[in-house]
Amino acid sequence: MKTVFSGIQPSGTLTLGNYLGAMKNFAVMQDEEDCLFCIVDQHAITVPQKKTELKHNIRSLAALYIAAGISPEKATLFIQSEVPAHAQLGWMMQCISYIGELERMTQFKDKSDGKEAVSSALLTYPPLMAADILLYGTDVVPVGEDQKQHLELTRNLAHRFNTQYNDIFTIPEVRIPKVGARIMSLNDPLKKMSKSSPKAKSYISMLDEPETIRKKMRSAVTDSESIVRFDPENKPGVSNLLTIYSLCSGESIETLEKKYEGAGYGPFKEDTAEAVVEVLEPIQKKYHELMKSEELDAILDKGAEEASKRAQKMLKKAERAMGLGRGKR
Ligand code: TYM
Repeated sequence: MKTVFSGIQPSGTLTLGNYLGAMKNFAVMQDEEDCLFCIVDQHAITVPQKKTELKHNIRSLAALYIAAGISPEKATLFIQSEVPAHAQLGWMMQCISYIGELERMTQFKDKSDGKEAVSSALLTYPPLMAADILLYGTDVVPVGEDQKQHLELTRNLAHRFNTQYNDIFTIPEVRIPKVGARIMSLNDPLKKMSKSSPKAKSYISMLDEPETIRKKMRSAVTDSESIVRFDPENKPGVSNLLTIYSLCSGESIETLEKKYEGAGYGPFKEDTAEAVVEVLEPIQKKYHELMKSEELDAILDKGAEEASKRAQKMLKKAERAMGLGRGKR
């Protein structure tokens, strides 16, 4: 059995991109593997957050994980800040990271671009992510494509620690889905769909009402050709919708291309919206029930306890390897 770890930031309502690129695949893995899924609130505060919003988003993300099929009986679901070993190992990972390699991270470049005041944590975000993963002897990390570079850095840091100190860390593998690894924005299909986008029309939120989903889909950018064909280079908008439709309906892209031969974009967009609604509606129903119930706290308490026990062991090994403390505890 492999150990699987992944995390999602509670920094706004999740998008269809988060769901199709990451969360949907988590639920599939929990039946076969030893899975840990984390609400990475310490990563979220690398950019300013409003306290009450963050609190809500943490709970909301926990409910979404479960509504999307994560079972607390099968997987460990927890909040990063409730397991202090993450920040502790994160510091040690920072100490072996080079500023140059952190400055090369495209996510850092994008998020800091043009900003005057950027927190130092935005730069040191990837060593904390490395700690998240390495604490559990993780074999596999399922993520969307935008996290690939962070995973490469994690592998480098693990290898660096193992050679400089002691061979304690498993070198994790990244698992990126073949389809859906990069769901694009609806109104600018050359950009990734993102929950931090100021334009609500650019993304579908996992909690959008059916009518909102239909409206957003209708206004999604396509092209003037009127042919439903998968060709990301020349037809990025249509290809993105085909990807979304295929993942939500289970029908292959080729089948969908044939289905809409000569039909134009109108019916294609309408049916894509319906396929999305069909996937999200049951998740939303479960989500609203969970948000009203008391269940979440017990699940998160249990998750934090389990994760802490496991994380503590690796933290101690890492401290001993580096020579921190008195080495006896
Ligand atoms: P975050 O919160 O930005 O995104 C969560 C997951 O969703 C994926 N994703 C997408 N996939 C496809 N298309 C999109 N448009 C799209 N947008 C987001 C992301 O790739 C990710 O898998 N740094 C991470 C959180 C993190 C983490 C970790 C992940 C912290 N520690 C340890 C794995 C392991 C992040 O910001 O994800």
